[in-house]
Amino acid sequence: MRGTDSISSPTSICEDGHSVNDKIQDNSVKTSGWNGTIIEGKDSYALMRDCNANSRLTAQHYLWRELLGFLVHPDIDTRAADLRVADIATGNGIWLHDFARGKPSSVDLHGFDISLDQVGPKPWLPANIHMHVWNIFENVPDEFVGFFDIVHVRLITVVVKNNDPRPILKNLNKLLRPGGYLQWDEVDTIGCSIKTVPGISARNLDALFSQLKGHDTWKYELTRIMDENGYTDSTLYTYEYGLGMARFWSDVYMSTWKEFADNALKTPEASRNLEHNAMVETLNGASIMVPKLVWVTKKIDTRDQSVV
Ligand SMILES: C[S@@+](CC[C@H](N)C(=O)[O-])C[C@H]1O[C@@H](n2cnc3c(N)ncnc32)[C@H](O)[C@@H]1O
Repeated sequence: MRGTDSISSPTSICEDGHSVNDKIQDNSVKTSGWNGTIIEGKDSYALMRDCNANSRLTAQHYLWRELLGFLVHPDIDTRAADLRVADIATGNGIWLHDFARGKPSSVDLHGFDISLDQVGPKPWLPANIHMHVWNIFENVPDEFVGFFDIVHVRLITVVVKNNDPRPILKNLNKLLRPGGYLQWDEVDTIGCSIKTVPGISARNLDALFSQLKGHDTWKYELTRIMDENGYTDSTLYTYEYGLGMARFWSDVYMSTWKEFADNALKTPEASRNLEHNAMVETLNGASIMVPKLVWVTKKIDTRDQSVV
């Protein structure tokens, strides 16, 4: 099946327009950013879907692409004219849009997210990009079981529950055809640091940043966890930007802070003061450095395992 326009599955998926808050199944999802920070919010993602949040996703995307030098890792073959690709937790869909460029219109692209409020109107999407509301923890709709050649997911640290990526890996595995590839991109929320030019204090930036850091130890075991849960040849690639790019990235992370600030410290005023002082340090020559992690893995193809 190609280019599904209607979905009969009884699960939560839909593709009928993008103002679909009423169709979001899991309202318990916490406000989140690039990292593992979890902050309870009344409307869990409201802060993250305005123009600033959306612009941050867009800017961040191009920084990611420049740093990695690819959208899909070169280990993964993307040449097939009938390639089927899914981008899970697609946000504003910028990764899919970028991938669609330069590909034949026969390539079939699907974005999934619990909310499509950040995605442009459906009539304006390229004909081969389809957007769906889907919660990553819910059943994979029948239409998409074993459907995709490539599944891509980026920046869902906060979505991982109890430091355990297995339920997510299980669902992503179901989306893939045997032998299909998963590429999972994350920030290294433990191996991140602050860098300054000599003699500059970064006390406030450090304090602010410590609120954003995570304890996502699953990332250090993900390769093994993948290999034990239906995937094979799992490989982790690490990418670090140099000091020349540090300010660009740091500004993105500071703008993430703005989206949480009111809830992060005891009072919104305390958060604003910390942000102001951290920004002064940034102007003087301090930056947040966050390595990027990319896992490439393949769904086990049981047909490869027949006894010779
Ligand atoms: C930090 S954004 C990343 C967006 C996009 N992947 C990117 O890199 O530009 C995280 C996305 O995860 C989505 N998300 C959160 N919980 C989810 C869930 N349970 N199922 C599917 N998507 C979810 C959010 O709606 C948000 O769009």
